Amino acid sequence: MALIRLAPQSELPAVNSVKEFPCGDKTVCIANVSGKFSALDNVCLHLGGPLGEGTVEHGKVVCPWYGWQYDPQTGATTHNANLKVAMYPLKIENGDVLVEV
Ligand code: FES
Repeated sequence: MALIRLAPQSELPAVNSVKEFPCGDKTVCIANVSGKFSALDNVCLHLGGPLGEGTVEHGKVVCPWYGWQYDPQTGATTHNANLKVAMYPLKIENGDVLVEV
């Protein structure tokens, strides 16, 4: 696992929204759900939709393609109890957003 600087803190998504960031050879979805930040893998487990281009509704990250919903803290989807997207530990340090991938 490596700690990677993703972006300056000022680029984080606003409350109850998501944003995608390139991170090495993958893309990470940062969610801000009620002021709490988390980092999820950006690829929806249904058909690969970009979660970081989706929305936040009722405390869940919602895929922009067909609306699968994900728990922002566990990565579990409400559509299938056995499926979870990867979560990456996230830190904010000296104005930088760091994720461990
Ligand atoms: S690709 Fe995300 S809901 Fe289908």
